[in-house]
Amino acid sequence: MKSGIERDKLTLFWGLLLSVSTLCMWPAGGEICGLNVDIRNDIREFTRLLENCTVVEGYLQILLIGDKTNHLNQEVFRTLSFPKLTVITDYLLLFRVSGLDSLSTLFPNLSVIRGRNLFYNYALVIFEMTSLKDIGLYSLRNITRGAILIEKNPELCYLNSVDWSLIMDNNNNFIVGNKQTTECGDVCPGIMDGQPECIKTSFNDHYSHRCWTANHCQKVCPKRV
Ligand SMILES: *[C@@H]1O[C@H](CO)[C@@H](O)[C@H](O)[C@H]1NC(C)=O
Ligand SMILES: *[C@@H]1O[C@H](CO)[C@@H](O)[C@H](O)[C@H]1NC(C)=O
Ligand SMILES: *[C@@H]1O[C@H](CO)[C@@H](O)[C@H](O)[C@H]1NC(C)=O
Repeated sequence: MKSGIERDKLTLFWGLLLSVSTLCMWPAGGEICGLNVDIRNDIREFTRLLENCTVVEGYLQILLIGDKTNHLNQEVFRTLSFPKLTVITDYLLLFRVSGLDSLSTLFPNLSVIRGRNLFYNYALVIFEMTSLKDIGLYSLRNITRGAILIEKNPELCYLNSVDWSLIMDNNNNFIVGNKQTTECGDVCPGIMDGQPECIKTSFNDHYSHRCWTANHCQKVCPKRV
């Protein structure tokens, strides 16, 4: 019995490795976690549930992690990082997590959200995240299936600086009720020094530099010949 399960996991692992390799990076050895990971209420759950995960099989939900002052969470989030995590096979959902400014430190190598099963029609949901200032998933290269929902995040900027068409074929994205673009002043790396570092693309009739944060350009895989 056990070895059968191990074998299935191994098959899945190599399958995922292959699909990641086509996205121009290889994950380091790690574990497949799940089925489904749900982190809620307690910030200490992060390490317990995600520490060694390379792949989250199923969904990853992070929600309802409050903190009356925000400061305690903020300090913990500055040190929390899961660089091994590269793939989520279903969807990523974030809802009411206070003190989290960006996902850039938390998931620096998350490359693929496959969207095999969706949350309604969505593979990425960011809803009522009170402190989030940028998404910061700078390694994200492919949302294979499903759209994104980014709504009611009062501090969230760097939304128009991402070219979603480089990441996903679905264009039913729902991005509303976040910080006003005019109040954001998003600046991609190098612009201040007159030496823009990021690629320029046209998206939603807007031709501009593409980045996830002030420090991270949006990267595209080199075209295969
Ligand atoms: C993850 O990202 C870090 C820094 O962004 C990088 O040094 C590392 O090689 C990447 N891969 C893994 C599996 O940690
Ligand atoms: C992660 O791996 C380390 C080293 O193998 C191990 O000590 C630790 O208990 C693991 N953590 C979890 C949550 O499984
Ligand atoms: C994402 O990956 C899938 C499967 O590899 C591919 O068919 C799709 O074209 C990719 N989408 C983008 C926008 O690169």
